[in-house]
Amino acid sequence: MNFQIITFKEFLKTNKKKELLNILSNLWNEEYGFIFPISYDLMNRNTYQTKGFLEENSYVAICDEMIVGFVTSKIWTHEIEVESYKSTGWISLIYVHPKFRKKGIGSELLIKVESNFKILGKKELYVGRDYQNFFPGIPMDLKSSLGWFAKRGYSCLYETNDLIKYVKNNEQLVALRPFKDGKKYEIRLSNQNDFDVLIEFMRRNYPGRWLVEVNDCFDLCKSNYFLCFDENNHLCGFCRFGNNETDNYGIGYSLTWRNRFESLGGIGPIGVEASYRKNNIAYNLLVSALNYLIEHGSTEIIIDWTNLMDLYRKIGFEIWKSYTYVRKE
Ligand SMILES: CC(C)(COP(=O)(O)OP(=O)(O)OC[C@H]1O[C@@H](n2cnc3c(N)ncnc32)[C@H](O)[C@@H]1OP(=O)(O)O)[C@@H](O)C(=O)NCCC(=O)NCCS
Repeated sequence: MNFQIITFKEFLKTNKKKELLNILSNLWNEEYGFIFPISYDLMNRNTYQTKGFLEENSYVAICDEMIVGFVTSKIWTHEIEVESYKSTGWISLIYVHPKFRKKGIGSELLIKVESNFKILGKKELYVGRDYQNFFPGIPMDLKSSLGWFAKRGYSCLYETNDLIKYVKNNEQLVALRPFKDGKKYEIRLSNQNDFDVLIEFMRRNYPGRWLVEVNDCFDLCKSNYFLCFDENNHLCGFCRFGNNETDNYGIGYSLTWRNRFESLGGIGPIGVEASYRKNNIAYNLLVSALNYLIEHGSTEIIIDWTNLMDLYRKIGFEIWKSYTYVRKE
């Protein structure tokens, strides 16, 4: 079968970006849209609106003038450096239409991306887990692709999960726990004045992608954090959340598949400064976000990318989707 593989950049010399992204979303949605629906906004946000998206290392496969497959890739290009990301390349999404599979198109797309990553000095390659990711690995629903990647030198490392809670009509709010050290803490919603203190907190405690998320998204979702302050008004913990009011371009990963749900709420990430841990701060932040979402009409709530099932089960969460981390070195 004759097919041609060209970069997004090349394709856009004669086509419009919006047209390209709509074609890719439709191609994907035809097969997987009922599980993982990708709207134009989501495709745009996770590609062209994300720093580090490589237009020149993302490809479309064309057969008879039709796009039948594609791959998108990213590297870390933020000013905020993360040591472990320096040698990392991410394959964000790879897809070939079922009618065109087993003809070597997927392999060719992968080879192109990998060769370019090599030139860029990227030695650790992941499927998913990119900044503004679709997936934190390969989803179990697409499990048959695991063997395909394994044959091409990728190792399956371990699993991670998205958890879900189905909110009942008369769902009870969850009680906060007393802080173990007996001191006073204030947990409250963030507002536009909290940007600097939250940035400073992230720099101290989580100087990687969570810091970048605040930097990139705070303007769009400034009231989408619960913050915990100690008696001296020192910020010691945060919990990000969102719901159907959160802007499409300001969502965290937990809301990625919101189009499947009536009114999805999402929680995560959550973090507490090291010296403040084991004091029920994380639990109370989590419960504050959960109660907020219940009170504001979320019909389902997702906590993304976690292995803390035992903790979250206690407040009504169960596994929704599981993913396998896949890496090639
Ligand atoms: C994974 C995926 C991209 C592979 O695409 P593909 O075009 O079928 O890939 P290939 O044709 O290169 O390889 C498929 C098989 O066909 C074989 N093949 C390639 N050319 C062939 C030919 N001309 N005749 C017969 N078989 C052929 C390959 O050897 C391969 O078999 P192997 O894995 O046993 O080696 C595709 O299955 C897909 O879109 N899956 C769903 C999306 C997904 O899971 N993405 C990952 C997470 S984002």
